[in-house]
Amino acid sequence: MSRKNIESVLNEERLFEPPPAFAAQAGIRLEDLAMLHSRAAADPVGFWGDLARTELIWDRPFTQVLDAGGAPHYRWFADGRLNVSANCLDRHLEARGHKTALIFEGEPGDTRRLSYRELHAAVCRLANALRRLGVGYGDRVVIYMPLIPESIVAMHACARIGAIHSVVFGGFSSVALRERIRDAGAKLVITADGGHRGGHVIPLKEATDKALAADCDSVEHVIVCRRVSQPVTMRPGRDLWWHDVVDGESPVCAPVPVDAEHPLFLLYTSGSTGKPKGIQHASAGFLLGAKVTTQWVFDLREDDVFWCTADVGWVTGHSYNAYGPLAAGATIVMYEGAPTIPDGGRFWKICETHGVTIFYTAPTAIRALMKLGEELPARYDLSKLRLLGSVGEPINPEAWMWYHRVIGRERCPIVDTWWQTETGAIMISPIPGVTPTKPGSCTQPLPGIQADIVDEAGEPVTQPDAGGYLVIRNPWPFMLRTIWGDDERYRSTYWAKFQNRFYVAGDSAHRDADGYYWIMGRIDDVLNVAGHRLGTMEIESALVAHPRIAEAAVVGRPHEIKGEAVFAFVVCRGTRASGDTASLVAELRDWVTQQLGAIARPDDIRVTDALPKTRSGKIMRRLLRAIARGEEITQDVSTLENPAIVDQLRGVESKPAKRKPVKKKQKPRAVSREKRKVPKKKQAASTRKSAKMARRKVAPRKRR
Ligand code: WT7
Repeated sequence: MSRKNIESVLNEERLFEPPPAFAAQAGIRLEDLAMLHSRAAADPVGFWGDLARTELIWDRPFTQVLDAGGAPHYRWFADGRLNVSANCLDRHLEARGHKTALIFEGEPGDTRRLSYRELHAAVCRLANALRRLGVGYGDRVVIYMPLIPESIVAMHACARIGAIHSVVFGGFSSVALRERIRDAGAKLVITADGGHRGGHVIPLKEATDKALAADCDSVEHVIVCRRVSQPVTMRPGRDLWWHDVVDGESPVCAPVPVDAEHPLFLLYTSGSTGKPKGIQHASAGFLLGAKVTTQWVFDLREDDVFWCTADVGWVTGHSYNAYGPLAAGATIVMYEGAPTIPDGGRFWKICETHGVTIFYTAPTAIRALMKLGEELPARYDLSKLRLLGSVGEPINPEAWMWYHRVIGRERCPIVDTWWQTETGAIMISPIPGVTPTKPGSCTQPLPGIQADIVDEAGEPVTQPDAGGYLVIRNPWPFMLRTIWGDDERYRSTYWAKFQNRFYVAGDSAHRDADGYYWIMGRIDDVLNVAGHRLGTMEIESALVAHPRIAEAAVVGRPHEIKGEAVFAFVVCRGTRASGDTASLVAELRDWVTQQLGAIARPDDIRVTDALPKTRSGKIMRRLLRAIARGEEITQDVSTLENPAIVDQLRGVESKPAKRKPVKKKQKPRAVSREKRKVPKKKQAASTRKSAKMARRKVAPRKRR
């Protein structure tokens, strides 16, 4: 399928100039942006060096900005020293000590406000307590908490003493938690008795106990924050209550200056194969990226109330909750729970109550709330909002327009921000007072970022609208440094494809005649479910770990709200009794939830007698994708070992009558033009991908 065909279904030509009232007051104007771009282009390294000197407070200034130890390893500001927490908290104590740093709202409706002083004191107390428990420079601390202020306190307490934090999303299961604790070799785990989410209590301590029940010898202590007052088992000698350990600790703790390259955190993210990758970020570079991009992209002003809805378990919660806005001296909002409790107006109510001015969320949330209608947002005063942001996946034009009209009331620019856990901070995004926006495009790279689109040979794709690999040509301070404990995987995943010539993001994209970037999706076997990456291999491993399952293959299919949904094909061990398919499917869905967390739960599971394999034993994943998407099968199936299996995979083998409902389920019901476009575009892109890019991925996969 040619690029032209893809374009003809997308056909997005609307252009939105920055609203004049916004542009008139914006921190970055047209001429400022032009200046930033020209300085960065003339001397990219010097550009970042100047920013690092002016934006960060150094205990020991660096003398060299970038030392390239040979691609793909870069060291930024390497002989400088600073402390990240001091750069976010201590630096504001004088001028903004009494300013509110954090406004918290729990799902049950409880609220708390912490000033910069109070946040600083809480961080210091915990930092002192961690030290007393033997946590020091370079030790790893896993944080497994609800989205409550203590999660940020815990992150900063680690940063303060040079410990490396690794936040594990509270929605992940004990199995996923254990894997991460083990890989990081964590010395201490910080958790809570539970958290409120979706009207339920999430039993975090219980999950932690399960995780620690085996193979976690590195963990010496568990600190438990009381949030839900749910009874928990405390293991004497190992488990300690947060309120006990900080009791009597001093509210002052001198920040430890760390080397600029000292790891600030590890954050695990899914890859196409094997176990999750511990993405390792460095202290100074990450902080610089989080801070300057918050200022540029969100046009931050002193009186803003900034709400990024992301959990600290994701990178967005690191860069745009815990670090960026605090480094910039902002007031942030944090909400613990689900957007639909008690009803789908909760987000808008929070915006009204706390006077949110900048709101940053994910397309999946926008689509979910859009489905509930315009009446809910109309009930609330959203007049304080002045800027909206989106992140995590391409935002479909229909959701973009709804966000613009119903939430932004046609007054707020929308920044569609492209970046990744690996890039540390926003890379491609509009500058809200300057860049005209187009629904569905993340527009153009930020100053200092040389993005490009290249073909299979690594040559730039210059023809407008032709797709290719999204790459970054130059190193940047907030890039990942390596994968924890697996540098080889770092090299092979991000650099090997084009012999270290550039960073390979793993996304496909195209650029239009105005130089605007349009992200088309992942090029590897990674799904993007509700704005979060899931490795198909992880889900397959979880499925085959079930005693009744012999083989599994997982692919994605378009989903109206989540962007992509998980579709699994499974083969049972031995013979399967024909009557129990429904109960097996239900059991498997629960099983995956237990193993990995609800986010990975397959929407569809099809039980089949065999997977489609080539004669050399490779699973034909392209075929499975087409089936999952309800597309016509255009692949040549003659190379299959077992061509007869195709009908069964399509669910039409024995009961042709079933065909209709199956089809209906797979095609989005929506009929509006825009709704139709997105799945079509995805289909088109994926078919093309299959043909050109994903071929190499059809490799035999090791199991278990
Ligand atoms: C992948 C990174 C970065 C924080 C959230 C996700 C996709 C992200 C956009 C966007 C189109 C996007 C990409 C990327 N993605 N933002 N604005 N437009 N796609 O972080 O889990 O590291 O996932 O999310 O595919 O590679 P992540």
